[in-house]
Amino acid sequence: MSTYLSTEEVISGQPIDTTRLTFSELIQLLEGQSAPPTLEQLESWLAVVEIASEDLQPYLGFKEGNYWRHRVCRNDSVEMLVICWRPGQKTPIHDHNGSHGMVKVQQGVMWETTFDFNEDKGLGYKTGRECQTGEVTGADVPDIHQLGNPEVSGQDLITIHVYAPPLGVLKTYKVGSSQVDLYTPNDFPA
Ligand SMILES: [Fe+2]
Repeated sequence: MSTYLSTEEVISGQPIDTTRLTFSELIQLLEGQSAPPTLEQLESWLAVVEIASEDLQPYLGFKEGNYWRHRVCRNDSVEMLVICWRPGQKTPIHDHNGSHGMVKVQQGVMWETTFDFNEDKGLGYKTGRECQTGEVTGADVPDIHQLGNPEVSGQDLITIHVYAPPLGVLKTYKVGSSQVDLYTPNDFPA
């Protein structure tokens, strides 16, 4: 079964060709959404968007100790973040608590690990893989995963994230445990 995807959207009276997008067109497209886009739509947009290094300048910033999330846009339907990671920085093991999301590796290499959750056995390892620069990967509901910049990568990592609907409180997990904790990412500059 194939999924039909429109290749043109009209945003603020202007047609946008979604088979090739600039970063600012992607922002306009996201800001114009009145309902959460599907995972397939997010994937198709992130696959074609061409992001120049100057596009990202306002959203770049690294810090020691933890990755740094920078919000590009957010409305009731969807949000986009740029995340900057030093080697060895990684997310907690988490799910998106009802949102789906796509990630594009803008620069560097990203490790993604996925997990299975079972009430009796708790959380267990499922798969691990690396995503190279330019790759797009997704997390559907109820995927549980961990993303990070490998300690041994020798380089910074920059990733582009789009979530629909926008993230609220996330659920976090621990390997071998059935305990689920709540986590609110709140590291945006004021
Ligand atoms: Fe995630």
